[in-house]
Amino acid sequence: MAYNLLKGKRGIIFGALDSSSIAWKVAEKAHEEGAEFVLSNAPLAMRMGAINDLAEQCNAQVIPADATSIEDLEKLVDGAVEALGGKIDFVLHSIGMSPNIRKKKPYESLNYDWFQKSLDVSALSFHKVMNVLYAKDAMSDQGSILALSYIAAQRVFPDYTDMAQAKACLESIGRSFGYKFAKKNGVRVNTISQSPTVTTAGKGIGGFNAFIDFAEKMSPLGNATADDCADYCITLFSDLTKKVTMQNLMHDGGFSSTGITGEIIEALEQGSAE
Ligand SMILES: NC(=O)c1ccc[n+]([C@@H]2O[C@H](COP(=O)([O-])OP(=O)(O)OC[C@H]3O[C@@H](n4cnc5c(N)ncnc54)[C@H](O)[C@@H]3O)[C@@H](O)[C@H]2O)c1
Repeated sequence: MAYNLLKGKRGIIFGALDSSSIAWKVAEKAHEEGAEFVLSNAPLAMRMGAINDLAEQCNAQVIPADATSIEDLEKLVDGAVEALGGKIDFVLHSIGMSPNIRKKKPYESLNYDWFQKSLDVSALSFHKVMNVLYAKDAMSDQGSILALSYIAAQRVFPDYTDMAQAKACLESIGRSFGYKFAKKNGVRVNTISQSPTVTTAGKGIGGFNAFIDFAEKMSPLGNATADDCADYCITLFSDLTKKVTMQNLMHDGGFSSTGITGEIIEALEQGSAE
């Protein structure tokens, strides 16, 4: 059901690769809620992905940008303000990539060039996006900026390797830039710490199916899906959350507050009885 929560709002949505992407679901829901927006992704990913189908469905323009390139981001922000006819009300940063994870490098022997790439793509790009929006004064008063994180920023998940550091950095950037943007013109900046979700990025993590199953059993409400995440993003882009800023918001069905659940005890008891 749509509530017109984003009627008249203009946005930029980064990171829709295919229909399983969290950003894809956010774009669909933002469209249903009355927003107009520009879609962006890295030029290479755009050739692989199906972003043009989404653009057609949402009546959105696509402007490619490598989110690690200030030059690309400047062109994107200028292009978005022009295409949408005014300043930007909401931005979704839904970007992550680790060459170490892709190439299955164990944490004890990371490749440091790749580590820097992970940090640049998955964390510094968030700073770069906000830097460009801030310098160009492109955000509307009381706008909203969001990035997606994962609880490995706070707790150890061994196969998440250098993305754990990238997410810790991402969350910290959200807080620090959130202060600057709040003082500038009341813009909110938050990160959402999402449950493990079956997407292209998610499936790259070692042991992902077991990961999902464990999180499902450890979350009293069950894992939050990409659709659930999109709903949450819409509320944070809407005018109903104007005083929420500089937060890392857990969106995980209760996982982060749970010590153990009946389902986990049962699974372990079954395992030890076999
Ligand atoms: N899937 C999960 O389990 C999960 C859980 C918590 C948080 N997240 C986070 O959600 C976000 C979205 O990931 P997803 O799961 O939807 O996967 P996804 O693979 O669909 O999205 C990742 C996106 O990042 C884009 N990207 C990579 N390098 C880029 C660059 N240089 N410039 C611009 N874009 C670039 C990719 O093209 C892709 O669209 C990521 O930040 C991810 O870490 C995912």
